[in-house]
Amino acid sequence: MKDKVILVTGSTDGIGKQTALELARRGATVLLHGRSVERGQTSLEELRAASGNVNLDLFTADLASQKQVRRLAAEVQAKYGLLHVLIHNAGTFMPQRELTEDGLEMTFAVNHLAPFLLTHLLLDKLRQSAPARIITVSSTLHQRAQMDFNNLQGDKHYSPTYAYNLSKLGNVLFTVELADRLRGSGVTANCLHPGAIDTKLLRAAFRGLAGETVAAGAATSVYLATAPEVAALTGLYFEAKRPVSASPQSRDLDLRRKLWDVSRRLTGLDQTLT
Ligand SMILES: NC(=O)c1ccc[n+]([C@@H]2O[C@H](COP(=O)([O-])OP(=O)(O)OC[C@H]3O[C@@H](n4cnc5c(N)ncnc54)[C@H](OP(=O)(O)O)[C@@H]3O)[C@@H](O)[C@H]2O)c1
Repeated sequence: MKDKVILVTGSTDGIGKQTALELARRGATVLLHGRSVERGQTSLEELRAASGNVNLDLFTADLASQKQVRRLAAEVQAKYGLLHVLIHNAGTFMPQRELTEDGLEMTFAVNHLAPFLLTHLLLDKLRQSAPARIITVSSTLHQRAQMDFNNLQGDKHYSPTYAYNLSKLGNVLFTVELADRLRGSGVTANCLHPGAIDTKLLRAAFRGLAGETVAAGAATSVYLATAPEVAALTGLYFEAKRPVSASPQSRDLDLRRKLWDVSRRLTGLDQTLT
């Protein structure tokens, strides 16, 4: 992986931090990302020491702010000529409904809209770097969600699990649609469930549930980022390094396209892949 440049969002903690560590150990240039400069610096130093890899860099942006997502993309573009792998790992679980500075429900904004926007802003770079891979950390909980366009913002009714599951279904619908729109470009898009992993997100969502280690949680992300045998696979949902069936909703073309159009509007993108 020595010549590969990989951005891992949400790599200051949990599964993302472990994913970054393992990619660093394989010699990749790893761009860490977090929302706190302090936690980012600490992670950067820790991961440099643990991996012996000096080619680690840090970018800071709160993904709840579209302005900051745009700044993050601009900084990555300016500093790196190539980007081979983009891992959308950052995620949040919000016990209470909160709105972002853009007036959007926080879970949907951070977990779905930020990956949608960041992907588009970095797409030219990924295409130039092809073969390239876009990997999104979803969850098996996407299977429990129903895409309800009348309540995307949780304003009709809200529960933390409703918002979280919906955002994770958004990850799957986005991945499958993105893969279709990118066919032939040399850029693949896949998503995954990491397992039930002992992190602060799991502890916030399911008190008392014993999770597996972050090493187990990072395994499928690392596999999708590195394995030669998945280089040509796209539009798939993985669990434990194997492609498995995602929610039947992911095969609903109208649903995917509708979410795409709504996401484009909510992120203020003039143009997306058609
Ligand atoms: N743990 C599980 O059992 C499980 C199961 C299925 C799916 N997942 C998914 O796995 C991914 C990683 O989660 P995790 O369990 O490792 O959780 P985690 O330990 O809480 O880590 C989440 C990471 O995302 C960052 N993040 C959260 N909100 C952000 C924001 N607004 N802007 C920028 N960064 C933000 C966090 O930064 P801070 O350090 O600043 O908080 C942290 O680096 C998520 O997408 C989650 O939905 C987890």
